Amino acid sequence: MDVDQEKRLAAEAAAEIVENGMTVGLGTGSTVGYLLPALARRGLSISCVATSPRTMRAASELGLDVKPFDSIDHLDITIDGADQIAPDGWLVKGGGGAHTREKIVAAAASRFIVIGDSRKLVDVIRAPIPLELLEFGLPATLRRLEPVVVREGPKSPDGGILADYHGDVEDPARLSQWLSATPGVVGHGLFPPELVASVLIGRGDSVERRTVRERR
Ligand code: 5RP
Repeated sequence: MDVDQEKRLAAEAAAEIVENGMTVGLGTGSTVGYLLPALARRGLSISCVATSPRTMRAASELGLDVKPFDSIDHLDITIDGADQIAPDGWLVKGGGGAHTREKIVAAAASRFIVIGDSRKLVDVIRAPIPLELLEFGLPATLRRLEPVVVREGPKSPDGGILADYHGDVEDPARLSQWLSATPGVVGHGLFPPELVASVLIGRGDSVERRTVRERR
């Protein structure tokens, strides 16, 4: 299996869905790294919003028009990668630590398209689940969330502490609700199926398409 080819094929198929005049949310990660040049090559007139400084830099260097996300309140489409994709449409995102912004940008779009290689398809969602935590009161938050591991490395672009929850997942909806309701949790990497329009997976030399929900 050529993972990079699978990522590239999924990303190129997603780039073909974008139409002239659209507002487009751009995710973060190596799969999105294949999306950006594919989108730039199409030469469309589109306005983009980036989910990370890394994506913003890369997209701008390719000539894509990236706007700050305080000037647009709705996106036509968002395209992003994922770490895990379950059969019922639950996702885990945030391997790259961008999950808080990624969820905001996914939720702002009429269509959220997930792209990935075939390793991303899982039978059930498992830990680790990425977290972004407020630095204030961090020891108390970590105590509530145990077992949790704080990541080495920089904070998020919004000053959040990046960590991973290593407990049981069992029911992603229940865990998602609990994490969202835990004081000190800024964001977590469980994305519900309601957010996801479709999934494009590179498999070998072709692309599998799954519709998760109809257009909003
Ligand atoms: C970053 C993410 C990425 O989309 C996810 O980690 C997948 O990354 P890659 O495309 O490199 O496999 O959620 O926060």
